Amino acid sequence: MKMVIKGKSTLKGKIEVSSSKNAILPILAASILTDDVVEIDRVPKINDVTVIGTLLGELGKQTSILDRKIVMGGKVLSHHPPYDLARQIRASVLVMGPLLARLGTVRVALPGGCAIGSRPIDLHLKGFHALGAEINLRSGDLIANTNGLRGAHVYLDYPSVGATENIMMAAAMAEGISYIENAALEPEIADLANFINCMGGKVSGAGTNVIRIEGVKEFKGVNYTPIPDRIEAGTLMVAVAATKGEAIINNVIPEHVKAITAKLTESGTEVVENKHNVEVRRLSKINPVYIKTLPYPGFPTDMQPQFMAYLSCANGSSIISESVFENRFMHVQDLSRMGADIKTEGKIAIIKGMRKLTGAQVKASDLRAGAALIIAGLSAQGDTVLLDSHHVDRGYEDITGKLNAMSAQIQSIP
Ligand code: UD1
Repeated sequence: MKMVIKGKSTLKGKIEVSSSKNAILPILAASILTDDVVEIDRVPKINDVTVIGTLLGELGKQTSILDRKIVMGGKVLSHHPPYDLARQIRASVLVMGPLLARLGTVRVALPGGCAIGSRPIDLHLKGFHALGAEINLRSGDLIANTNGLRGAHVYLDYPSVGATENIMMAAAMAEGISYIENAALEPEIADLANFINCMGGKVSGAGTNVIRIEGVKEFKGVNYTPIPDRIEAGTLMVAVAATKGEAIINNVIPEHVKAITAKLTESGTEVVENKHNVEVRRLSKINPVYIKTLPYPGFPTDMQPQFMAYLSCANGSSIISESVFENRFMHVQDLSRMGADIKTEGKIAIIKGMRKLTGAQVKASDLRAGAALIIAGLSAQGDTVLLDSHHVDRGYEDITGKLNAMSAQIQSIP
């Protein structure tokens, strides 16, 4: 797949953000906790959702995806997701916690997904072990077994999003009470807790750094709508700013994009927060800014590449410090091909700014890198050809259609 992006676009108008990819993936995994019917509404048409849906089907769940609704029901029968599906996306590891809780055993391939650092899952496993599981590695697969999970205190050395979710799902059915200390604070964690509670679970404190989970024996079916995607919202906000545009971005929880709003404002772009939307208007030249990625409520690492594209045209030098992932500067080489002046040293990138980007042939190395190159392409002089644009479809619903509805001219070519 490739995209041809016409440069010197100015994004204008209104656009609607889809539901959160990173909320839906653990919610789909958590549906394993019940045999009753679970219906999820406003599901975005993105590849990661299709992969997890297919994976749940392979585990024995009756799963149907009808337009924007997923309906799942029935028992999970298998404890072993097929290798090819599990390797495709890292979030497949999120079935471990609920499978362990339901079947007392799980076997998964070591996770794949975006090529951004080694991304171990030691904290997930530490949590399962504390809850009473034994973990082994056999032929590249992780195998966890338990003869009954029991409530425990789990302290996370780092507030990992996935580990918090996985341990929460396992503990939701454990006997007794569990606490996750130094838990991740991301809004997707609170959404998962909310979903589990709607199914009859007893989770409190999600959204703070101590989560209390009282295990329950049985969960019931539910109809649920996940939160809006704060990273899609942020990406669209930066795209509007980078193209000197002016637009209203609907279906946003402004609280969830505070760090993005703060950095856009500091750089000279106006952001007006309303109840369910934000208005974005680029007022002046782009001021250089300092950004350090951090766990929520800090600046999201998933917005770092897009800001780097934007800051390539700032009126001076910006610094980005990537503290969440190693090796998350893969987009630098392609931004440089478009004329950006960026130097990296370990986890620091210095973006010189004062550049006029020009269209080029570039390649998406991962999901957010692809989003950054689209933003660069929209603001550059001339056409940009983005190769491997399928990475972008993993996490953005109809990004071409949405940007084109705001006056961009992007063509997707299979
Ligand atoms: C989730 C998001 C991803 C986002 C990331 C950080 C989903 C599906 N994905 O990924 O888009 O970029 O949060 O906001 O929600 N780590 C360990 N050991 C572990 C787990 C993590 O060392 O057991 C490290 C990772 O290598 C990384 C850091 O912790 O350096 C953050 O990872 P984590 O918060 O777990 O991210 P994910 O859940 O994988």
